[in-house]
Amino acid sequence: MKKNITYIKEIIPIEVEDNTIFNIHTNGTTSFTHGFHKYPAKFIPLIPNWGIKKYLPDEGSIVLDPFCGSGTTLVESMLSFNNSVGIDIDPLSCLISKVKTTPLNIDKLEKILGWLRNSISHSKNGNFHPSINNINHWFNDDAIKKLSIIRSLIDKIPTIYGNNKNVLDIKDFLMICFSSIVRRISNADNESQKTYVSHTKLKVPEEVYFLFFSQLEYFKTRIEEFSKLVYKEAKSTVIRSNCSSDLKKKLSGYRINLVITSPPYIKAIDYLYNQMVELFWIGDLFELQTLALQNSKKKLYIGSKHFHKADYCDFNPMETKLSIPHLDEKLISVFNTDSKNGNKHSYLTYKYFLDMEFHFANLSYLLEKGTKYIMVIGDSTVSEIFFNTSNYLVDIAERNGFSLINRWGYKIKNRYMRFDRKGRGGIIDIDWVLVFEKN
Ligand SMILES: C[S@@+](CC[C@H](N)C(=O)[O-])C[C@H]1O[C@@H](n2cnc3c(N)ncnc32)[C@H](O)[C@@H]1O
Repeated sequence: MKKNITYIKEIIPIEVEDNTIFNIHTNGTTSFTHGFHKYPAKFIPLIPNWGIKKYLPDEGSIVLDPFCGSGTTLVESMLSFNNSVGIDIDPLSCLISKVKTTPLNIDKLEKILGWLRNSISHSKNGNFHPSINNINHWFNDDAIKKLSIIRSLIDKIPTIYGNNKNVLDIKDFLMICFSSIVRRISNADNESQKTYVSHTKLKVPEEVYFLFFSQLEYFKTRIEEFSKLVYKEAKSTVIRSNCSSDLKKKLSGYRINLVITSPPYIKAIDYLYNQMVELFWIGDLFELQTLALQNSKKKLYIGSKHFHKADYCDFNPMETKLSIPHLDEKLISVFNTDSKNGNKHSYLTYKYFLDMEFHFANLSYLLEKGTKYIMVIGDSTVSEIFFNTSNYLVDIAERNGFSLINRWGYKIKNRYMRFDRKGRGGIIDIDWVLVFEKN
């Protein structure tokens, strides 16, 4: 299939004709706090920015991102003086989002940074130790010692400076700054979605203190800029929750004016595997410090491939259907043609759409008539069979009280989106922007 692609730079036109495909060139992916911490499948900020400009004429509205990841929508909402609510099942993503959207008291920050720099230079050892046995596989001795010192000092901050909101916000900020250097300090490949130590591509990890101090400067400059702009103008709330479950209680009190989000893709990203080395150093904050704890949570993520045999061994797509004929047929093809993984893969794909159905049903219940819901989603290949995920999600949204009012796409360039989309000879990888209206 050949598609005409329109090249655009830094700005998406407000009116976009249906089925337009853009090639978007932007340098603005790290402005303000957007560049804090890596995260797989981050939005380019231009996408939520487009949605806010087009559908929220008034400042002071509330934008919801139910799969907020690292908070790109939340930051963009605040930069346009709107409030935001983010939901995510992943605790590290919630902390990153919180830090990126929380203005800080800069005088207090300067004071604590002075103390931290000075204490680091005088510390010989830290008392924080990761709870895994093979830490030396992941980090060299120098890195372990220095990371332990930094983490132990960050833990001490509330005891020294008080257990109040200003100080705890600064502690979270420093924890995310600390986490943001861990992959580069480790022996694991920096670029890959998966966390592994390559034996063919040897890596020389960066020096801990040099990287941490330069990252502190970067974080400080950016949060200062952000805090000055949004202070008292806009607020953000981040909620750790499963957004295919009932959100009534969690969102009571918020009148949502716009939803902008990008849910996971089918079987594409293992978020906890991606964050593994960071979680060795800060996972105890979320009870995710060991591999066993991380693995036990994986199947809660929409799009996960981590199911036990007991979950899928009785699944048969000939009997259990989603009542979308094309989709049901594809699930049967996966089941029948993939002799090794057909059962598992058809189940996990079925489960993906089922979870998305619960999600739409829950949001449909919460949103007022006329509210717009912008979803960014890519299609997928499962067991070599192409799934037109965006089309199926339109069917599912429409039977849950939404109408599709605009659909366009853009070419994927983000390097953290490098996951397996093979077997689609010549088809360009597109993220689809689906705009729904609540009926
Ligand atoms: C594509 S990422 C979102 C990235 C985000 N737009 C950003 O700019 O960083 C999808 C997110 O969905 C989250 N997620 C997966 N299953 C979820 C669930 N059941 N409820 C809420 N969030 C979930 C993942 O943890 C991940 O952060």
